[in-house]
Amino acid sequence: MSATPDIARKFTYHGPALDTITETYKELLDKCPVGRSEQLGGFVFLTRSEDILAAEQDPETFSVTPSMLLPSFGNETPMIPIDIDPPDHGEYRRILLPLFTPKKIAQLTVGMRETAKRLADQVAAQDVADVSALFARPMPTIIFSRLAGFPESDWPKFDRWVDEVIYERVLDHDRSTAASREVEQYFDALLESRIDNPIDADDLIKYLLGAEVNGRPLSRPELVSYCYLLFLAGLDTTAWAIRSSLWHLAQHPEEQTRLREDPELLPAAVEEWLRTMSPVQAMARTCMRDTEVSGQEIKSGERVVLVFGAGNRDPETFDDPDEIILDRENNRHLSFGGGVHRCLGSNLARQELIVGLEEFLNAVPQFSLADESQPWHGVGPLDLEIGG
Ligand code: HEM
Repeated sequence: MSATPDIARKFTYHGPALDTITETYKELLDKCPVGRSEQLGGFVFLTRSEDILAAEQDPETFSVTPSMLLPSFGNETPMIPIDIDPPDHGEYRRILLPLFTPKKIAQLTVGMRETAKRLADQVAAQDVADVSALFARPMPTIIFSRLAGFPESDWPKFDRWVDEVIYERVLDHDRSTAASREVEQYFDALLESRIDNPIDADDLIKYLLGAEVNGRPLSRPELVSYCYLLFLAGLDTTAWAIRSSLWHLAQHPEEQTRLREDPELLPAAVEEWLRTMSPVQAMARTCMRDTEVSGQEIKSGERVVLVFGAGNRDPETFDDPDEIILDRENNRHLSFGGGVHRCLGSNLARQELIVGLEEFLNAVPQFSLADESQPWHGVGPLDLEIGG
């Protein structure tokens, strides 16, 4: 690989680095679309949309073992199905498909709308509201936990676990790993109680307990792993997406008005917010054989990071990539991935975003940022002035 510019060697996409990520991506795409970073143990990164898609679609060269960059969560069982390569991956993924069909999502929509309306009414009743705590975080927790069969009395613990497992992962690895163990133990106990006391519920847990892989029932560690991954994948990502969409709208009162008058625009707007403020900025792979991407050599055994957030701003794929254009056409972003591991919950997440934001805009009068310095990313507090 040719001499690596400083920006590539220092490149990371965690924590404070996100504050300047748009400028970083622009420079990397321009100067060093395939580069080598010295951060987080060292990794090669791909930023061009086409390169990322090609890598996603070539699992034999780019394996998902593991699919995230170190430090790992320390789980004993790989996260199913995201850490499993083909051909086994297909068998594990197939088990989840019936939970996320358009029909299933349509069935969930009535409850989704009621939940969004109730939460939005609570926001509307305040002068200044933390919409992360009141809306963006509880909505996916309620929707997914009901689908999954996680008891309502346990929901208050979930935000802390998500924060510790995901957001502390780089900053405080020991605490994150301890929280990870707690989450695994919680799901193990929950599964145990559902095995001992079967209930007639149409939910994920019932479904998994009856599922088979390669003609045998799922083992306990496999069951825990499914629950763990869906918990991580379903809650934090959707909360981030709702929060960042509201962050953007708070600074664009004319867009609030436009979407209230023409809610049909919401599906396209949601795609555009997902493209520009993707909750999953990157996923990792391991290179399984020497290869070349955009003229740069990658060696077998190297960690390779597919930077979806950068690919989403690739000027070769998107006109005016840094502009947020609510009715952008042909928005083929990478925020849900693009290969065999493409997000299974994308239909659910999209519907939560569309319905959630529509009800929010219906219930809440014009709103603005209470403090301009609040970041666009993450699931931390987001204080909005309501009626301002
Ligand atoms: C805005 C919200 C979401 C975003 C941005 C998102 C993004 C992603 C991404 C980037 C991947 C990896 C794709 C790859 O490596 O090619 C993924 C995988 C996955 N997501 Fe999502 N996700 C979201 C919501 C959800 C929800 C709500 C669920 C389920 C409740 C879910 C379940 C999954 C599962 C099971 C996988 C693994 C699929 C596999 O390995 O075959 N996601 N998601």
